Amino acid sequence: MPATILVGTQWGDEGKGKATDLLADHMDLVVRYQGGNNAGHTVRAGGETFKLHLIPSGILYDHITPIVADGVVIDPQVLLEEMDELAERGVDPSRLLVSANAHLIMPYHRELDRVTERYLGRQKLGTTRRGIGPAYADKAARIGLRVQDLTDPKIFRQKLDAALKEKNAVLSKVYNRLPLDAEEIAGDYLGYGERLGPHIADTSALIHRALRGGQGVLLEGAQATLLDLDHGTYPFVTSSNPVAGGALVGSGIGPKEVDRVIGVTKAYVTRVGSGPFPTEDQGWAGERMRERGQEFGTTTNRPRRCGWFDAVLLRYAARINGLTELFLTKLDVLSGLDTVRVCTAYRYEGRVYEDLPPHQTIVHKAEAVFEELEGWPDDLGSARSSDELPPAARKYVERVADLGGVPVRMVSVGPSREQTVES
Ligand code: IMP
Repeated sequence: MPATILVGTQWGDEGKGKATDLLADHMDLVVRYQGGNNAGHTVRAGGETFKLHLIPSGILYDHITPIVADGVVIDPQVLLEEMDELAERGVDPSRLLVSANAHLIMPYHRELDRVTERYLGRQKLGTTRRGIGPAYADKAARIGLRVQDLTDPKIFRQKLDAALKEKNAVLSKVYNRLPLDAEEIAGDYLGYGERLGPHIADTSALIHRALRGGQGVLLEGAQATLLDLDHGTYPFVTSSNPVAGGALVGSGIGPKEVDRVIGVTKAYVTRVGSGPFPTEDQGWAGERMRERGQEFGTTTNRPRRCGWFDAVLLRYAARINGLTELFLTKLDVLSGLDTVRVCTAYRYEGRVYEDLPPHQTIVHKAEAVFEELEGWPDDLGSARSSDELPPAARKYVERVADLGGVPVRMVSVGPSREQTVES
């Protein structure tokens, strides 16, 4: 059975956790392929709410093997804490497998994330300060430490000493911070390594074997298309590749192994951190979306910026990811409005852009061209099929599919698993 990729089409927080939950029954492996503990998945399972940052939500299902693949950057302390917390709540983390090739987030990455943001001042990116960018930068510079290094104390120490020589000089001379102690870091990390040892594996080989054996494999992206390092609103992006192409690199499989690319798209748009956001609504409508949609960061608790649905972004995401279908989330949040707006294009200096403009300056300065659609007064939470949606809500869903050029297969009308409509 070919693999399925699940990817966010906006700036993250589209509700990918719920989509994973619904797909879980048909899956044997759920794979995280990029990012780190900057992510936050809220998943409701067995009547409980779990907030996961690093471990794939597949951990909550006994029949699933959750995998943290090669393209992820791992803070081992956070990973172990998350495993301990799950164990305390009765979820067995022993099935979790972690790629030996995944890179490690080190204490100097966290420190550098904090101080560089401070130095950027008004130009700051608004990162999650978890050390994600600096860890990926070291990976690209080929001075990163990997999970497999945790199992070889001699190599670990050699690589750590080499990295710290430069990091400590930068931290103390450029940023006026205290240098970090190699002995202390090595002690902590080799301890983490001992605990993680049984979970370390060649995950690409495992995924390949599962695919050959006809098992269901879900490649679950964190963050989203517009936060992609190459295809997002650079520099206001994360440092990895959430897009579908990144799923292949990050998990170590080829393009022919995938036949479904599901785009998770929220009925409105949110963004955390800095960067352009043409449909942002800083008035009462945005405030209403924030309150009704509980739009506060899972990782940092920051209020999310909110705005209207943006078809320019959706068309772009459809192209970049090769989306085969959409899962439209949080439609219920828009209930009770007389009219709802969808952005069909951007306008800048008299020109109309139906596709994402090729220059970031235009995206920053463009104004959204809106279409007004009739709202629906009713609460949608009890709808279980497309016919049970009010006509205006059904029309909204159809318009999203039309504008994006991708069919909407499922619509979420409330947080629980049952509050889902197949369309
Ligand atoms: P970083 O990933 O911590 O380096 O942050 C870079 C940008 O990505 C910032 O604007 C963050 O707010 C954003 N970001 C990172 N992870 C998430 C996520 O899971 N959801 C939404 N935004 C995110």
